[in-house]
Amino acid sequence: MRVIVTEDYAGMSRKAAELIAAQILLNPQSVLGLATGSTPIGLYQCLVEKYRAGELDFSRIRSVNLDEYLGLSPEDDQSYRYFMNENLFRHININLANTYVPDGIAKDPVAECARYDELICRLGGIDMQLLGIGNNGHIGFNEPANTFALSTHCVALTESTIQANARFFADSEQVPQQALTMGIGQIMRARRVIVIASGSEKREALRKAFWGPVTPEVPASILQMHPDVTLVMDRQAAPEAACV
Ligand code: PGA
Repeated sequence: MRVIVTEDYAGMSRKAAELIAAQILLNPQSVLGLATGSTPIGLYQCLVEKYRAGELDFSRIRSVNLDEYLGLSPEDDQSYRYFMNENLFRHININLANTYVPDGIAKDPVAECARYDELICRLGGIDMQLLGIGNNGHIGFNEPANTFALSTHCVALTESTIQANARFFADSEQVPQQALTMGIGQIMRARRVIVIASGSEKREALRKAFWGPVTPEVPASILQMHPDVTLVMDRQAAPEAACV
């Protein structure tokens, strides 16, 4: 694992954007695995700036997002599809038809999960997967559990995740209780993985994930087994173990 510690959130965003930009330059048809949440917003802004400066061309890029809330339509401003359109896609020259997010209002969510796995397979797998990390060590919505769920699946969100995400909603009652998420298998098959984290509230999750035992109780800990992970975090997020 490569570990990059930056001075602050802006530095983390710039560094992670550089890595994604390099991936796009190396392979303009890359399949990018993308993430939502507060952490990637700055990095998406950096990518938009690079696009506007003429440094990046997204016209042949394909993207697959990690997850979506069950029950939210793409037009819902809390949906992850909406987030991606607003924070990245509508500012760059990506073909929207080549951007994929699980369908939160699929009539048959189980079939939607199978369809999503097939789709990723058909695209040839993920070249670079971007991940945030939850305070409870989740990646995507792979919540702490007894086993690692390998395929895309429906998941009941834990109370900790509902509380953490309540900041985006009027109150925690409004946070959907379930989601569709890419599984650990898809994430682990990505050729490269970038994990981003900012702020002291992520420090303990990072310590457990990357310096603790590999366990499904800390889903991100499986990344210790991945051959190409780069962890980009700011100083506030960095566990002591990362600074020796
Ligand atoms: P955040 O979420 O970027 O909003 O902190 C990360 C995550 O839950 O994966």
